[in-house]
Amino acid sequence: MREMKKLFVTGGAGFIGSAFVRLALEEIPDCQIINFDALTYAGNLDNLEGLDERRHRFVRGDICDDDAVLAALEEGADAVVNFAAESHVDRSIHSAGDFIRTNVLGTQVLLDAARERKVRRFVQVSTDEVMGSLPERDDAFFTEESPFEPNSPYSASKAAAEHLCRAARHTHGLDTVVTRCGNNYGPRQFPEKFLPLMLSNAMCDEPVPVYGDGRNVRDWIHVEDHCRAILAVMRRGRAGETYNVGARNERRNVEVAESVLNALGKPPSLIKFVKDRPGHDRRYAINPAKIERELGWRPLETWESGLEKTIRWYKENAEWVARARNGAYREYYAKQYGTT
Ligand SMILES: NC(=O)c1ccc[n+]([C@@H]2O[C@H](COP(=O)([O-])OP(=O)(O)OC[C@H]3O[C@@H](n4cnc5c(N)ncnc54)[C@H](O)[C@@H]3O)[C@@H](O)[C@H]2O)c1
Repeated sequence: MREMKKLFVTGGAGFIGSAFVRLALEEIPDCQIINFDALTYAGNLDNLEGLDERRHRFVRGDICDDDAVLAALEEGADAVVNFAAESHVDRSIHSAGDFIRTNVLGTQVLLDAARERKVRRFVQVSTDEVMGSLPERDDAFFTEESPFEPNSPYSASKAAAEHLCRAARHTHGLDTVVTRCGNNYGPRQFPEKFLPLMLSNAMCDEPVPVYGDGRNVRDWIHVEDHCRAILAVMRRGRAGETYNVGARNERRNVEVAESVLNALGKPPSLIKFVKDRPGHDRRYAINPAKIERELGWRPLETWESGLEKTIRWYKENAEWVARARNGAYREYYAKQYGTT
């Protein structure tokens, strides 16, 4: 396939989108990126600091606004890569409306615009959560054939978005590909998410809240390994296919909290078990054999190397953390966990 040189990235001011933009600029030396992001509470222009303005243009806009999307895509693109989403399960439990609007309606607006502007490929960044929860047995894994069984409003909205991609391909012949990844960790992740929540609280000697019995299992991957997988799928994935992305790195939540505390030299007594999240999925575990076999993708970070790099970034960027933990985040935190 001809190299993808003009990219239209949505949600590129968020955690994974900003890592993808950095990686694409590095890996595809002559690519040009339009980064289209509404800058919700999770979007942060600090995440784009230092990018080459001749090759990366930021446009503030909402993916549900078809006129704004068509205008920003006026010159077409080789690929649309859709990261824009409401992404936090806990928030979807309090209120699902924004999730349906952005993740479902917004994806359809982008699919229509991609067709109208004759974009070569549409990449939908999805999640393992669309496949529901696995039993605790260690021989059960998600594959691309696992049925859709989304259990939260967040995962249901992401599943709906995948269906819309499938329909755009089947009905209109749009070239769509889907990636489904597990829990990401790395620099610039908004502190409401599990790992940066542990890190940022522990760094301030505040208790680190862990849901329920702490034995829920997640499959962790460093954000740059996820982004390398998305690049591989964008460039070489087969049209219409879904690719699971995982680093074969299952961890119980309480083990993750212990690793973080240990790495920071903080006592395990900071762990505070709190009331479980309603409908909390027990276990996610991804079989990534298809992307490994077809595209030769492999994660480059181990859990140890990735965690060490991540912790170093949070220590060196205390101001970023302090700004992210201000204002609206404080209100959200008090509602979710009380004022510990
Ligand atoms: N974080 C994970 O572990 C994980 C795992 C698998 C898949 N994903 C998926 O990857 C994508 C990115 O996740 P993330 O963790 O970086 O999320 P994030 O919440 O950090 O970033 C989302 C970005 O989308 C933007 N956005 C939200 N609504 C928008 C709208 N209506 N129009 C334009 N921009 C909008 C936000 O401003 C923000 O910059 C999401 O689609 C998510 O479902 C995330």
